[in-house]
Amino acid sequence: MDKILVHGGHPLNGTVRVSGSKNSALPILAAALLTRQPCVISNVPDLSDINYMLQILSHLGAHVERASGVVRIEAEKLKTEAPYEIVRKMRASVCVLGPLLGREREATVSLPGGCVIGDRPIDLHLKGFEALGAVSRIEHGNVKLFAKELRGATVNLRGKQGPTVLGTDNVMMAAVLAEGTTVIESAAAEPEVVDLANFLNKMGAKIEGAGTRRIVIEGVPELHGAEHEVIPDRIEAGTYLVAGAIMGGDVMLRRVDPTHLGALIDALRQSGYAIEVGTGTLRIKGHPSPTPVQLTTEPYPGFPTDMQAQMCALLSQTSGISVISETIFPQRFMHVSELKRMGADISLDGHTAIIKGVEKMSGAPVMASDLRASAALVLAGLRADGVTEVNRVYHIDRGYESIDEKLNQLGARIERMKA
Ligand code: EPZ
Repeated sequence: MDKILVHGGHPLNGTVRVSGSKNSALPILAAALLTRQPCVISNVPDLSDINYMLQILSHLGAHVERASGVVRIEAEKLKTEAPYEIVRKMRASVCVLGPLLGREREATVSLPGGCVIGDRPIDLHLKGFEALGAVSRIEHGNVKLFAKELRGATVNLRGKQGPTVLGTDNVMMAAVLAEGTTVIESAAAEPEVVDLANFLNKMGAKIEGAGTRRIVIEGVPELHGAEHEVIPDRIEAGTYLVAGAIMGGDVMLRRVDPTHLGALIDALRQSGYAIEVGTGTLRIKGHPSPTPVQLTTEPYPGFPTDMQAQMCALLSQTSGISVISETIFPQRFMHVSELKRMGADISLDGHTAIIKGVEKMSGAPVMASDLRASAALVLAGLRADGVTEVNRVYHIDRGYESIDEKLNQLGARIERMKA
């Protein structure tokens, strides 16, 4: 297993290009199953999660070609069972359920296990599919769906932790070929949901309201192929903004959509950082004495849970007491114990982290646990004294395209050690 060595203390200056969004590309690639005609998706990031999705689509019978960031998918004939050996590697595989149900009226996908950020149920996905007329069964670790026909319905997809992103995607993808009108209440409003709806509408779907809590889908008899460029990855962008804040340099991001990062920009400005918003660019400059902040993660447009770990790394080195409450995945604090190994002063009270900023953290061997926690450890290592050895780097490669190369281009000193 690869590991990376982060040598602390190298300031960051310069420009970094943000890649296409992982969390937009995954459901969009799955949506290509809804038509027999070819779809061409561009700005697809080179990530292991994307590779897993392409393997699943190929296994289902789609013809998949990839040339750097462009993927061509032609799903003429489809099998309807996604293989456990691939699905188990990536929870987002569940987003093939909607397209398979929409097109073939049946689907079998192994249940997503939990993961380190917490239990990952799909009860709301199934609630939506059943509202459309599907029957769901859980057997031998698989979720099986079957529908004689799919009829539009009104369904509220709010769970106890609020809306569901992939649940909204899945129900939308099943509803586009249903008979009649579907209304999704308490829909997720993330930019990635809007990107998927835009792609589906290019394929001939009739979806209105994406980006609001109420999405209306008018079923159509069939969809045709389409071309689409995936939006920039707002979480990758946010991660590099925080890197710029931690290292106090002058970092410019390009090919980013600043409107997707409002809550993070507000939080960083509140802490004292100067952030310039341009057309497709964001620029952050360091601050000599940033102030602590209080944050609560919320569904979009609130502060994103996927930026919580990275903010813990920044606030661990911001003098004063900061507080972060995690409402989406209450157990999403695997990074805290590793940051404490580096000298952070963080105490957990239920789903709230109380962070007392320390002058200097110290590099140490740490263990990556999930995608964003791993990024947080790299960020902390950028400024810590000495070398931070981040093990199990495959977690990072799931969601960050060449993070070591991009940070080194900005002036960091990161070595990747092939295991
Ligand atoms: C998406 O996961 C993202 N993944 C996650 O990013 C992100 O953290 C999450 O949305 C929240 O923004 C992708 O888009 C591939 P949810 P998703 O359904 O859709 C509960 C990353 O780092 N829930 O919005 O699986 C659930 O347990 C990843 O890139 C139910 O109770 O998340 C959670 O508490 C990590 N029942 C909350 O809702 C359900 O049926 C939000 O989950 C579904 C979800």
